[in-house]
Amino acid sequence: TKNRLNHIITALIFFTVLYSCAQKGTEENKTEPEFNEPFRPQFHFTPPSNWMNDPNGMVYWEGEYHLFYQYHPDGNTWGPMHWGHAISEDLVHWEHQPIALFPDEHGTIFSGSAVADTENTSGLGTKENPPLVAIFTYHDAEGEEAGKDDFQTQGIAFSTDKGRSWTKYEGNPVLKNPGIKDFRDPKVAWIKDQWIMSLAVKDKISFYSSPNLLEWKHESDFAPDWAAYGGVWECPDLFPLPTTDGKEKWVLFVSINPGGPQGGSATQYFIGDFDGKNFTTETTEVKWLDWGADNYAGVTWSNVPETDGRKIFIGWMSNWQYAQEVPTENWRSAMTIPRSLELFSDGEGYSLASRPVKELDKLRSETSNISGTEAELTHELVELEFDITEEDFRIEFQNEENERLILEKTGEFVVLDRGLSGITNFNADFENTQTAPIGNIQAKNLRIFIDRSSIEVFINEGELVLTSLIFPTSHYSKIQMHGLGSGKARHLKSIW
Ligand code: FRU
Repeated sequence: TKNRLNHIITALIFFTVLYSCAQKGTEENKTEPEFNEPFRPQFHFTPPSNWMNDPNGMVYWEGEYHLFYQYHPDGNTWGPMHWGHAISEDLVHWEHQPIALFPDEHGTIFSGSAVADTENTSGLGTKENPPLVAIFTYHDAEGEEAGKDDFQTQGIAFSTDKGRSWTKYEGNPVLKNPGIKDFRDPKVAWIKDQWIMSLAVKDKISFYSSPNLLEWKHESDFAPDWAAYGGVWECPDLFPLPTTDGKEKWVLFVSINPGGPQGGSATQYFIGDFDGKNFTTETTEVKWLDWGADNYAGVTWSNVPETDGRKIFIGWMSNWQYAQEVPTENWRSAMTIPRSLELFSDGEGYSLASRPVKELDKLRSETSNISGTEAELTHELVELEFDITEEDFRIEFQNEENERLILEKTGEFVVLDRGLSGITNFNADFENTQTAPIGNIQAKNLRIFIDRSSIEVFINEGELVLTSLIFPTSHYSKIQMHGLGSGKARHLKSIW
């Protein structure tokens, strides 16, 4: 009987262990991202869980687009920053990667960029296997709390295995702080035979140069008196861009928070020249990259092959005014759809067009033609296209809950009203009407992307853009149109 008891006990232990393993299995499965929660974007990049802000370190290398991002893995609001990581071969489908950069003794990891050091100028790889080098801001929160003003410095990390693992440089920080509280967001590029770093320094952009990414020399500062101020300058990006009439200009992005055209955060840009030391502008007018409330801290990919010829952009699709309160739980924030940038002649000078990248066409499934003043939308993920036939137009999206989102052009302005578009009461600043001046643009066509919690409006393929978050409680199933000609509604497939 003792033997039998032993067997029973063994069997009991066996089944208990088996059961608890199975339980653990299901629990673990539960924490796996579902990517199907209410409001979870279906064709925009989102982190698997928790908080994300700025896109960082975007570099193209050996057939892969790398996207890093400001990440707080332990909560759904902003906190100690890491660099999250994802990889795509087509800018549309993303594979989540392990966290690339963790905080260390110098601080947490704020925004920055990444380059392919193809000549191994840094010596951190070899000529045969050149390193990818990430340049980022260290934010020493303890130093800040202790009342210091030199708590932001620049550090680097490198990878010699296609960005899969990252090693911090021993000599960090590579650029110390001269005693200025806001000293961050290095964007580095190979320009005129040296590395140039654009850095946001309070309310100016400082340019530094380096032969090897390790030693940096201050070259100049840019802060014209007519620019948009009112908040701190952040996340610069400097690059040459061809114009549609065959010239080349230099463009400088400067994100500003607050002080944007719809309140809160937004990105202004400057067009001019960069001679290797100084950036100069040829206009004295504030220009905004996107007139919607929700496109911030966006920058462009580096090292995209010249044969491609595109400058590809992605932005953080939120606004610091309310980003931490939007009605999502498991994760917070998405990126915009990727856009390709181009300078077009606007009648007076040049302006920037942001065009949805052509890779997005892959997501298209059934298409239906739209004409008249009303149409049903049978799918929640849609791309709409219309000819604009009248001077003024209006399109209203409606759902079963009687929530309404209105886009209209009246006279000189394009207006997006999300006041009744769904859940808006989580923050008083969210319930807004976004107004954009049409300027010299002759509005000819309209392209709109609607995901579960966003609308992106492109007039004339991106000559005027409005990106906006929305939280409708069910999908918009009907549209009413005025002033628009024939159109198309395409269902889009989910990327997850
Ligand atoms: C912009 C920003 C950057 C900073 C990062 C911190 O949104 O404030 O200036 O590096 O976010 O997460």
